[in-house]
Amino acid sequence: MVKKYCLVAVLFALGVPPALAAVHTVNAGQSILAAVKASSPGDTIRVMPGVYSETVYIDRDNITLQGVVVSGVRPVLDGHNKLKDGVLVAGDGVTVENLQIQNYTANGLNLQGVNNFMVRYNIVRDTGIYAINPELSRNGTVAYNRISGVWDAAIYCGECIDVDILYNEAFGSVMGIESQTAENVLIEGNYVHGNATGIAAFLIPGVTRKASGNTVIRNNFVVDNNLANFAPRDSMPGMVPEGIGIAIAGYDGVVLEGNQISGNNSAAILLVDQATAFSGNFALDPEQDPTVNDTRIHANVLFGNGEKPVGLVAAFLAEAGLPRGPDVLDADPRSGGNCIYSKTELLVVGADHWALCTGPLRSTVTSMRLSQPIAPRTWSDEELGRNTWVAVCSACHNENGYLIGPPVSKIQQDFAGAPEALAAWIVAPTRMNPDFPEMPPQDYLPEKTRLAVARHVLGLTPKKAAAD
Ligand code: HEC
Repeated sequence: MVKKYCLVAVLFALGVPPALAAVHTVNAGQSILAAVKASSPGDTIRVMPGVYSETVYIDRDNITLQGVVVSGVRPVLDGHNKLKDGVLVAGDGVTVENLQIQNYTANGLNLQGVNNFMVRYNIVRDTGIYAINPELSRNGTVAYNRISGVWDAAIYCGECIDVDILYNEAFGSVMGIESQTAENVLIEGNYVHGNATGIAAFLIPGVTRKASGNTVIRNNFVVDNNLANFAPRDSMPGMVPEGIGIAIAGYDGVVLEGNQISGNNSAAILLVDQATAFSGNFALDPEQDPTVNDTRIHANVLFGNGEKPVGLVAAFLAEAGLPRGPDVLDADPRSGGNCIYSKTELLVVGADHWALCTGPLRSTVTSMRLSQPIAPRTWSDEELGRNTWVAVCSACHNENGYLIGPPVSKIQQDFAGAPEALAAWIVAPTRMNPDFPEMPPQDYLPEKTRLAVARHVLGLTPKKAAAD
C-alpha cells in the first residue's frame, strides 16, 4: 500500500494523470490510425508485429505509440514507395518507439511544432527526404534509432531547440545528422558512417528562425562519409559536399569534442560561410549573419581524413596549392571567435586567424532538455492552419507548381471565399481533376483543424504564377 501511494504521489508530482490512461492494442490487419483516433491524451497504443501500410497522424497530446517486439520481430510501417509519410506527429508529449518504418517517399517520422517529444529504438530506412525530423520542435530526445537511405538528413533537427540526439546509427544518406538553424542541441555518442557528409550544422537562408547556437557535438564516431550525393542537383541537399566528417555552414556556437573522425576523403571538419555553401542556388537572408562564429574545436581523434578530396574542398586546395585534404579547413575568411586546442597536432588550413582555446576544455552539459516539460500551448487558429498545411497538405500540394495534387492557385480558384466548403470537401474528396490521382480523405483531422487549414490555404500567396 505504501508503495502504491508513493507511485501515485510521484505521478501527480510529474503532472501525469494516474488512472485514466488507456491501452489500445493494434493487431496485424488493423489500422494504427484508427486506434489513434479512438485514443485520448495520455493513452498508449501498442502495435503488434505485422506490416501496416498507412500514414499515422497523431494530433493529440501525450500519446505513446509503441511497437511491441515479439521474439525480435517488430511491427513494420511500409509505404511501399507510394505513401508520403510514415508517422506525422502534431501533439505535444508524444513518444514513438520500437517501430520499423520504411519505403515512404517524404518523411519516416515527422514532428511538426511539437514539444516534449521522445523518439527512440526505431529503425527507419528509405523514407524519401528525411527519416526522423523534429521541425520547429522543442525539448525532445531522439535516441537509439537506426536510420538510413534518405536524400536529405537521416536525423534532421530543423529549427529545433533544446534537443538531445543520442546514440543513433545514421548511414547511407546525404547527411547522417543535421542541426539546422537550431539552438541548444546535444549530438552525442552517435555512429555516423557512409553518408556524403556525416554531421552538419547549417544555418539555412530563408527559414523562420534567424540565429543558431550552443550546439555540442561530442563523442561521436564519424567514419567514412564518402557517399556520392544522390539528392536532386538543384535542391539544397544537392549542394551538400562529399567526403566530409563534420560540416559547419554559417552556424554559430558549435563545440566539437571527443569525436573520432576518420576515413572521410575530403576533410574531417569543414567550415564555410553561407555564400560558399548555398549561393549557387539560393538567395541569402539579410536577417542572418552568414559567417561561422564561436566554434570551439577541443580534442578530437582525427585520422585518415582528406586523402582523396573532391568538390568544394578539392577546388579550395587546388587554389591554395595544397597536396591533400586537411583535418580542419576553414573556408570562411570572415569567420570570427573560433578557437582550436592545438594547431600543431592537426593539419589546419585557413585558420591562421583562430586563437588557441583557453578556459575549460570540456563542456559539462549532460543534456539540452529542459528540467520541466514545456507547458501545454494553445495554437491560434492561424498557427493550427499553418502547421497542418506544412505537416499534412504540403506533401502533395505547393504554392508554385504541380506536386501530387494541383497547385494552391487551382484550389483558391475553385473554393474562393468558401473555406467551409473546402473543409467539408477534404473529408470525402470527389473527383475534381481527373488527370490527378484521387486525394486520400482527410477525415481524421478534427473539424476545427480542417477549417483552420482551409482558411490558411485560401490565404496563401502563390510564390510564382502557376504554369497555366
Ligand atoms: C497524399 C497526397 C495529398 C494530400 C496529403 C493532400 N492532398 Fe489535396 N489533393 C490531392 C490530389 C491527388 C488531388 C486531386 C484529386 C482530384 O481533384 O480528383 C487533390 C485535390 C485537392 C483539392 C481540390 C483541388 C481543386 O481542384 O480545387 C483541395 C481543395 C485539396 N486537395 C486540399 C487539400 C488540403 C487542405 C490538404 C491537407 C489537409 C490536402 N489536400 C492534402 C492529394 C493530396
